[in-house]
Amino acid sequence: MRRGLATFRGPGRMDLKIWEDREAMSMAAARCITRYLGREKRPLFCLATGSTPVRTYERVASQARKSSELFDPLRVLQLDEWLGLPAGDPGTCEAYLQQRVIRPWGISQRRFVRFSTAPGQSDAECKRIEDWLARNGPIDLCVLGLGRNGHLGFNEPGKTLCPVAHRVRLSEETRAHKMVSHASVKPAYGLTLGMAEILQARQILLLISGADKRKPLHRLLRGEISTEFPASLLHLHARTTIYCDREAFGREMGN
Ligand code: GLP
Repeated sequence: MRRGLATFRGPGRMDLKIWEDREAMSMAAARCITRYLGREKRPLFCLATGSTPVRTYERVASQARKSSELFDPLRVLQLDEWLGLPAGDPGTCEAYLQQRVIRPWGISQRRFVRFSTAPGQSDAECKRIEDWLARNGPIDLCVLGLGRNGHLGFNEPGKTLCPVAHRVRLSEETRAHKMVSHASVKPAYGLTLGMAEILQARQILLLISGADKRKPLHRLLRGEISTEFPASLLHLHARTTIYCDREAFGREMGN
């Protein structure tokens, strides 16, 4: 087992752990995820998509092959979804989670709660997810990635943020994300859990990897809270841990 390069107590109560590279970070994140199983009777995980957690989910999948019974009671909730991609498009967050989590971890479809993107029904769909979470939550473990503009899920920077599941107009930066680079028409909107739903999670694991995340990571570590940088609201949460790699953190280790 590789050891982290350094651990800091971030501003507020946030813990930051820096790993040598993405592989070491992913191994540690996978351990953190699997430790949760077996602790709760019917754990509820909310999982982000994107490139950052890919390897983490693969590592968890190898654990699932060895001890599948641990995964039987697990429920998975989708964090967000692009709106406007054709059904079955491989760029959807649902397709991503089906391929990298639901099938390889052996989660049954009825334990996978996701946004439907049927046209014209997004408000009703967000209300359905909001109500489902109010009845079945809170989330036990929420695995998040960091948008380059500081977004969490699709909670984009702005004057205000929405507490519950809602439809969002996506920023140009978000529309340029690799997940939808193949789409002839880039989605203009997304559906996402709201900030209160995320902050009600018992534990949050924020994964940050690569040099292109250095700027937002350092902004987060400044400790100022602003809706113009949604990730900064994590400073209000009592149990958030950041795992990042050295590339994201930069050279100076601070101690
Ligand atoms: C997308 C997803 C987020 C994800 C973020 C970071 O916008 N909606 O849930 O966390 O991008 O993605 P990546 O890990 O590819 O940088």
